Parts: sequence; C-alpha cells; structure tokens
Amino acid sequence: MRNQFIVALFLGVVYMGCTKPSIKNENPSEPLTGNRLVALADTEKILQNANPNVMVGAAVNINLLPQTGAYRDLVIKHYNSLTAENAMKMTALQPQEGTFNFSDHTIEDVALNYGLKRIHGHTLVWHNGLPNWIKNWETAALPPAFPTRAAKFDSIMSRHIRTVIANYDNPASIYKDAAGKPLMKSWDVVNEALDDNGDYRSTQNIVNGVDKGSIWYRTIGKLYIEKAFTYARMAAEAQGDTGIKLFYNDYGHDYSAKKLDSIYKMVMALKQITVNGKPIIDGIGMQFHININSSNTNIKNALIKMASTGLLIHMSELDISLNKPGLPFSSTVLNLQKQKFEDVAMLYRKYVVAAQRWGITTWDVGDNDSWLTYSNGVQVDGATVYDINYVKKPAFYFLYDGLYLAIPASL
Ligand code: XIL
Repeated sequence: MRNQFIVALFLGVVYMGCTKPSIKNENPSEPLTGNRLVALADTEKILQNANPNVMVGAAVNINLLPQTGAYRDLVIKHYNSLTAENAMKMTALQPQEGTFNFSDHTIEDVALNYGLKRIHGHTLVWHNGLPNWIKNWETAALPPAFPTRAAKFDSIMSRHIRTVIANYDNPASIYKDAAGKPLMKSWDVVNEALDDNGDYRSTQNIVNGVDKGSIWYRTIGKLYIEKAFTYARMAAEAQGDTGIKLFYNDYGHDYSAKKLDSIYKMVMALKQITVNGKPIIDGIGMQFHININSSNTNIKNALIKMASTGLLIHMSELDISLNKPGLPFSSTVLNLQKQKFEDVAMLYRKYVVAAQRWGITTWDVGDNDSWLTYSNGVQVDGATVYDINYVKKPAFYFLYDGLYLAIPASL
C-alpha cells in the first residue's frame, strides 16, 4: 500500500512536470517527457497494444514471413491484423481459369498460431493483379454459352468471388478465432475502381505493363461494382452468418476532392442495396499511400466525409513516402515523416469514432520489403516505420504515440 502511494506520488510529480501540458496522456499513470511517452521501455512499445480501440495491421509477403528473423518477429509482435500484400489477388488465387490455388497457408498459420485477431482479405475485383487468361477473354471468340462478353466476365467475376469467399469462410476450416468464427474477417471486394478525376477507370492505358483502365468496366459496365458486392454478400450469407465485412478500397481521398466525392456517392448508393436485409457494403478502405507533404487539413476533411457515410473506415495501406530525397535521408525529412505518422494516427482517432474504426494497416512492414521505388537497389521512398535493417525509425515511436497519446486541439 505504502509503495503504491510512493509510486503514485512519483508519477504524479513527473506528470505535472510535463513541458507540454496541452498534450495529456490517456493513461495518467504513464508519465510524459515533452510529448514523448517515457514510462514504457522500448520493448514494451508494441503497436497492437498501443490503443485498445485501434487495431494495427501490416501487409505481409508470404515469401518473407516463413523465414525466421526480424521481419517475422516484428509481424508477430506488433500487429493483430494481417493483409496479404499480393498472395490473395486474382493472379495468385486463380492462376488458370477455373483452377484455384488455396495451398498457401502462411498468413493463416501465423494468425492462428500467434493469436492474431484477424486477416483482412485483399482483393477480389481489381483492374490490376490479374492473370493473363482473363485478359485474353477481352478479345477471344466467345464460347456459345455466353451471348455477350459482359455475360462471360460476369460469370468469371461471380465464380471468383464465390469460390474465394467460400474457401476462407469454410465452416470446416481450422483457421478460426477463439469464438469459432473464421479468422478472415473482411474483404476488399472492389479495389481502385475510380481514377483521380473521380471517373470510372475504363479505357485501356498500359503503363509499365499495367493497364490503368479497368477490364471489368469495359466488359460489364459500371454495374460491375454493385454486382461484385452483391455476389460477395451472397457468398458470405451462403456460409452462414460469419459477420464478414465488405469494403470498397481506394486511394487519393486526401488529394483529389473529385475522387473523394465520387467515392462518397458510390458507397452511399451501394449502402442502399441489400441481400437478406443486409447492405452489400460495410466499409471504406482508405489506402493512405501519402507522403511527408500531404496536407493534414485534406486528410481531416477526407476522414470526416468518409466517416459521415456511417460505414466502417479502414486506413488500409498506410505508408508515408519521404518523396525520393536521395540518400542519405536527412533528419529533416525523417522528422517530417515521424510527425506525419503521428498526425495521421491521431486524425484517424479524432475523426472516426471507435465504433467505426476497422483499424490502421501499414503497407508492408519495413523499408526493406516496401513496394515503393528502389533505385540501384536502394530504397528511395523510405515510407515505413522500420529501416532497411528492420531497425525502428523515429516514425515508429511517433506512430505509437499517435495511437496512444491524447490528441492536441490543433489537429
Ligand atoms: C502492390 C504490391 O505491394 C506490389 O508488390 C505489387 O507489385 C503491386 O501491388 N494499392 C493496392 C495494393 O491496393 O494491392 C498494391 O500492392 C499497392 C497499391
């Protein structure tokens, strides 16, 4: 009792001695120095424990995850949600028409064996990440069973969605959480359907081997989006009530007001459509591939507008590029980056109420495995919170604090 009193007194004195009283700690027993949390040892700063109301995820690479070492250790320690960086895209899951490949269980095994709370599925319908066989169907002669190309693509899309959802929601699967529900909790049903002007991606436009237009729009028309969500909801319902959440995922909310508006209108329309009385959409994935100069005001406005839909909001692919400054990274850009990581986490907490938060997922783990540009083998975006040796960057601590500390009125 006496010891507790002394500790409490000590903490109180340290707490009152904070140099920035405007930033209060959510947990008064933890003292702050400036706005940095010091009571926790470095090893105790675990992202997934920073805030019980914000799940923290990472996009993971199934080639790296089985290897012992820093990458795997960080994934297991810091994240309670995993997204497959590439392993659940159409090219991976249906490499040949009608031949599905569900043999890789790397992510499910890690989630099951290390008690991670969930897997987020990415992605069912996208203009990118497509196998070649599907591209061929845009011009190949149609089999007699299909009167139109739209009918052929509709059938490809519905079979893909149905089969993939059924696989991960299979009642016989061992990949379940403590409540007996599938570890796969959510899917990005449609990814990146809109361009930066807020128009539907459509016309073929091949840049570096990738078609920036959408084969789905060209063949099925704009109805492909509501069809995809309807098929996904029907597939989930067919597996029983698993509570799976269905998302529309895209980027650019912060820099294109037109795109933000189009996304808003599209998801509001999707929300009106139901299957078995359930809306076909549950949430919005805001990718957040941003950079150190991205505007906090724009981010705030985008979060407010998306949250006003009443849907779940997933910050689904967060990374913050240093804007290719060239190496070595200067402390100036690293400082801007750390502050932006903190700001983004706090803006999310401030403008998305806890009940609407699906969490924050970073795209990839560290700079070494990040998808962003390498030049002569050297990472020039440095967009993650761990450096190329998986050592924590200043951004790691600021992300932690952004999840944990009280939010300043200025944000
Ligand atoms: C990227 C992967 O990180 C790369 O490895 C791959 O070559 C291309 O796709 N938006 C998305 C993700 O929704 O699927 C993309 O992932 C990054 C942008």
